Amino acid sequence: MKRKSFTLFLLIVLVVALTGCGVKETSGESKGFIGISMPTKSSERWVNDGQNMKKLFEELGYKTDLQYAEDIIENQTAQIENMITKGVDVLVIAPIDDRSGLTSVLERAHKRGIKVISYDRLIQHSKYVDYYATFDNFKVGVLQGTYIEEKLGLKEKEGPFNIEIFAGSPDDNNAYFFFDGAMSILEPYIESGKLVVRSNQTKFNQGATLRWDGALAQSRMDNLLSAYYSSERVDAVLSPYDGISIGIISSLRGVGYGSEDKPMPVITGQDAELASIKSIINKRQTQTVFKDTRELAKKAVEMADALLNGEKAEVNDTKTYNNGKKIVPAFLLNPVSVDITNYESVLVDSGYYTKEQLGQ
Ligand code: GAL
Repeated sequence: MKRKSFTLFLLIVLVVALTGCGVKETSGESKGFIGISMPTKSSERWVNDGQNMKKLFEELGYKTDLQYAEDIIENQTAQIENMITKGVDVLVIAPIDDRSGLTSVLERAHKRGIKVISYDRLIQHSKYVDYYATFDNFKVGVLQGTYIEEKLGLKEKEGPFNIEIFAGSPDDNNAYFFFDGAMSILEPYIESGKLVVRSNQTKFNQGATLRWDGALAQSRMDNLLSAYYSSERVDAVLSPYDGISIGIISSLRGVGYGSEDKPMPVITGQDAELASIKSIINKRQTQTVFKDTRELAKKAVEMADALLNGEKAEVNDTKTYNNGKKIVPAFLLNPVSVDITNYESVLVDSGYYTKEQLGQ
């Protein structure tokens, strides 16, 4: 009898110890569980965005699940479904395609009380987007347009100058903001004839590049060059994103641009990706727009933290980002134009890149 009750006692101790451990392990003493859904690893910025957020969330005591969908819409939906099943408290999503696929999965998330933060790109057509962390996307375009205006000297010089226009992915709300911002500067010059678009392709859809694909931009540039520039020279190319700029540059180099007697046109970009900063140093790409992914990650983490503490997050825009179902309260960070004259102070001095990374 005595031995039996002792065994029972031991068993109880064991069960308590084990379940105690079990509870500890599954909660990991975390303050909450965050699902981070990024579009692709093929662009270095999203890799940094994801890593930065993961690190910051973990420093605050949150558990994370970071997934990349390799630009396949169905992957992203499945990954988010999986995060919901695993019991995340907050979803931070940079959508691949902002218009389809996510509406029903976000509805399911909402039913489970999961909060949603739209990251860099706005998720369309869902009531269940709590906050939007992004940059001033219109200003990104204004910086690109203004750079072309200044570099070509459009205010002072007579011209005309030849320009071709590229736009971003039509399924990404940001692409329209970049385009409208740039065109707000360039359009008056196109109308007055100081800027000439020889292809006449000045509409968003004519210059759009699905999934921001550099190879697609390269083949469009090949076509433009052979159809419209056999005897004329291109003086500028509006490119909304570094990956697209790299494609355009390959095409231009293919027909001899980048030599003494055929200098590169002015080419803009965005994201300050390593390859493009090197290209700027090598005088191929002319400009890019730096959007500090460390700051954006910090903003998204602050928003999630506020939501989980039942507080309101800091926003600075409650008008601009209507996703068709609601105006999503947003925090817009400031983008910065970068070229050969300031890349060191903006990128190296701030620790975004080391000199070694830039091959210096
Ligand atoms: C946009 C983003 C840009 C660029 C582009 C391609 O949504 O705002 O910074 O990264 O996607 O990835």
